[in-house]
Amino acid sequence: MTPVEVEDVEIRLLLEGVQQVYGYDFRDYAAASIKRRLTQWLAESGFDTFSQAQSRLLRDPELFFSLLQGITVNVTEMFRDPSFFKALREQVVPFLKTYPFVKIWHAGCASGEEAYSMAILLNEEGMAGRYRMYATDIDEAVLQKAAAGVMPMAEMQKYTRNYQKAGGKASFADYYTARYDRAILSADLKQSIVFAPHNLAADAEFGEMNMVLCRNVMIYFKPALKERCLDLFDNSLLSGGFLCLGLKETLEKRKMSARYDELVAGTRIYRKRYG
Ligand SMILES: C[S@@+](CC[C@H](N)C(=O)[O-])C[C@H]1O[C@@H](n2cnc3c(N)ncnc32)[C@H](O)[C@@H]1O
Repeated sequence: MTPVEVEDVEIRLLLEGVQQVYGYDFRDYAAASIKRRLTQWLAESGFDTFSQAQSRLLRDPELFFSLLQGITVNVTEMFRDPSFFKALREQVVPFLKTYPFVKIWHAGCASGEEAYSMAILLNEEGMAGRYRMYATDIDEAVLQKAAAGVMPMAEMQKYTRNYQKAGGKASFADYYTARYDRAILSADLKQSIVFAPHNLAADAEFGEMNMVLCRNVMIYFKPALKERCLDLFDNSLLSGGFLCLGLKETLEKRKMSARYDELVAGTRIYRKRYG
């Protein structure tokens, strides 16, 4: 075996061990991406080989949590892909407004920017108090950041531009208070959001959702795990509900695609058919 093949075997064994000891299953994450991230984690953690890291890892939960953070990609931003949020505002909100109350699941919410963007949008459209969002992620450290609702001030210029391009109706500065190099989001944005841990590789669906967003998460998964996630979302959504994927993701060629229509081509916003 070449050193590269040995390393691949070591990674497989490590992921197997992690699954058995901690119950987190990363074996269905896309191989090239997980190898790249694990290699970076290995270099930072000071071990020479994955075999060397494994025995410590399986006995040391803190080391496991550093591995978890090494594996997950938490990159996100407010009003990420402004054209998507503009389409939500113009094409989806008119349907949501016809319901007395709506339930929304953000799967893989990272540090919460997507959910907070949605709260701003729904409040501006007169839906304050008429929605509940469940914002979930596998990574509890990132969920703590999400619940705090504090962001780097340095990002605010970019977020203001995104907000304007997404059709924002107020001034983005109305939604946060600047404190030194931090921006503290208004407390009223948090009122209708519940942040909670949820693992898409192992946990169950959320019942009776009007909308599910899972953007830029499944790109890191192998086809079987993508299919598991899509089944979860399908089982969570009511008829007439909306499924939103990342701009690089699609329902095409997926077995459930026959039950969904893309609302406007290219937006990756799908509506579940009735009946
Ligand atoms: C790139 S972020 C996407 C954040 C946000 N949806 C967006 O588009 O800006 C991907 C998130 O998926 C989460 N994730 C990865 N594997 C997961 C799993 N098995 N279950 C739930 N979340 C997961 C990561 O922790 C990370 O926060």
